[in-house]
Amino acid sequence: GTGSASATDLWEQSALNQVLQRGELQVCLEAGYMPFDMRNKKGDIVGFDVDIAKTMAKAMDVKLDLRNTAWDGIIPALLTGKCDLIISGMTINPERNLKVNFTDPYIVVGQTILLSPALKDKVKSYKDLNDEKYRITTKLGATSDYATKKYMSKAKLNLFETESEAALEVINGNADAFIYDLPYNAIYSSQNVGKVIHLDQSFTYEPLGMAVRKGDPDFLNFLNNYLAQIKGDGTYDKLYNKWFVS
Ligand code: ARG
Repeated sequence: GTGSASATDLWEQSALNQVLQRGELQVCLEAGYMPFDMRNKKGDIVGFDVDIAKTMAKAMDVKLDLRNTAWDGIIPALLTGKCDLIISGMTINPERNLKVNFTDPYIVVGQTILLSPALKDKVKSYKDLNDEKYRITTKLGATSDYATKKYMSKAKLNLFETESEAALEVINGNADAFIYDLPYNAIYSSQNVGKVIHLDQSFTYEPLGMAVRKGDPDFLNFLNNYLAQIKGDGTYDKLYNKWFVS
């Protein structure tokens, strides 16, 4: 460019300004990641992310529109303006951070293992799964996909579009293990007692953040301060206890 944008230019273009003008916060997420983004019995999208987005929209005094978006298209959707932000249990990593900006982490998770009960005594950690005789499943394009390729490169990897299809393979006897984020696996194993074993020691470090388009300091400033506020005033703890402690 020929010059630098002024503060008023930046604010004109800020997604936050667009949200206020429109009177609606448009959020991309993908339902299917318990307990962050999922469908209840009525078919509504609910979860920890949804509740954070709801309180945030309320603080902005705007409506909230949840836009269910397939995982492999969720960053492109943000970049092409289909939503103002992504809150979808997204791990902050360098590869993604080259394309989008992230807020400060709102929670930290890590990868764990849902194991076939048949391997109870044979497999104690992800290291034991790094063997060509094992079949592992996970979700395409998730950090579990990258982690499995990195730490269990010898195993056969089968990728699925949704986490539920991938996890079901273990129950059906088509896979030895499903690798995924701890909170999902904790809930899944409690819903499928005796059908899977949860090896619940995380072997990766994964801070989750909200993603926004680059070049938008005004929006990022609002979101980070909003997160700091709810962490301090009890709102965050209330929502955390609602979704993570049963
Ligand atoms: N934390 C993992 C990642 O960033 C999984 C997130 C999946 N989120 C979802 N809404 N399906 O890759």
